[in-house]
Amino acid sequence: MSSPGSLLRTVLIGVAAFCAVESALAVALVRGPYLGRPSDSSVAVIWNTDTAADSRVDYAAPDGVWRTATSPEVGTRHVVAITGLPSGAEINYRVLSAGVQLAPESSFRAPRDGTETRFRFAVIGDTAEGGSVLTDIADRLVESGADFAVHTGDVVYPTGAQQNYDKTFFLPLARWLLHGPVLPALGNHDVMTGRGSAYLSNFVVPPNGVTQSSRFYAIRQANALFVCLDVESSSYGADSPQYDWLVRTLSASTATWKFVYFHEPPYSSGHPNHLVRLILCPLFEHFGVDIVFSGHVHLYERTWPIRDFVPSGRGVVYITEGGGGSPLSDFHQEDYTAFVAARFGYTEVQIDGGTLDLTAHDPSGAVFDSLVLDKPQPAPSAGVRIHKGHVRRHMGRR
Ligand SMILES: [Fe+2]
Repeated sequence: MSSPGSLLRTVLIGVAAFCAVESALAVALVRGPYLGRPSDSSVAVIWNTDTAADSRVDYAAPDGVWRTATSPEVGTRHVVAITGLPSGAEINYRVLSAGVQLAPESSFRAPRDGTETRFRFAVIGDTAEGGSVLTDIADRLVESGADFAVHTGDVVYPTGAQQNYDKTFFLPLARWLLHGPVLPALGNHDVMTGRGSAYLSNFVVPPNGVTQSSRFYAIRQANALFVCLDVESSSYGADSPQYDWLVRTLSASTATWKFVYFHEPPYSSGHPNHLVRLILCPLFEHFGVDIVFSGHVHLYERTWPIRDFVPSGRGVVYITEGGGGSPLSDFHQEDYTAFVAARFGYTEVQIDGGTLDLTAHDPSGAVFDSLVLDKPQPAPSAGVRIHKGHVRRHMGRR
């Protein structure tokens, strides 16, 4: 027979266990999980809960061994960085707070180191209003097997406010966000509230070593360099920190492929930004940038290679990918334009050593433009083969 003391102890333990369960069950997921890239070689798993709790990610590489990463902070926003992943491996993961698994197990592709020469990425832009177009694009991105998606800006309309992020970005893109990070650029609408405070707090991208917030940043993936610029809320003139950083970043890169992305297109049949064209495009040409991606104009456009401000056999190709779901824009085709279409959609780029295969897709996955660039490695300049206007059905995860 139990003594009164031991009985009380048993009851207290029982109550404590019950309270713990109740407390655990009270933690609910309110955003995510989604992914970030704090550095070239690490991944951040991010989620929000309705009440403060701890943060834990269980993850497994192809060796099948489950490991655990945690964050020491207790709160409602959870950011857990994972490092030391095998290059390019598919990583299974699940997120937990207060001991409760908050979402079904999912998977992402680990960052690829400089020894790799084959990968795929996607480009989306002007997702601003969300909706069914963006939901369809999310499904296509999952099917594509892209490592990540670059975003050309205007993530959320009308003013980039935090209160609109779930409805118009995180929910419609949720299927994709479980599998790959979005590496965004600031759009003119994104900086209208708190100079982009919601954008800066929601996304995890690398620091630039120059400014406190990552309004501009660069990331290396396999044999490619990705440079994100801010032409909306940061100076980019020749005497600005961003310009100096851009020169240093491009000149130091030994990557086979160099991509730059930012919001307002320097070449566009809709609304070109002539200041960006005059100030930054000579740098892109000088340092052998292959493709510049922008958004802002709600359509898809590809220029001929441009050098010294005119179409040329060799030079920089400018792609506008602004078909993320906002009302489509009017345009008047410019002479430097190879292909333009007021279409919703997204762009995919497959890198295979010295060959780049770009395809522009509508939300169903159908291809309506394509471009192939070949470059003998390690020569920096590109010979260009262009195929356009053909349609092929894009199917299945690769
Ligand atoms: Fe815009």
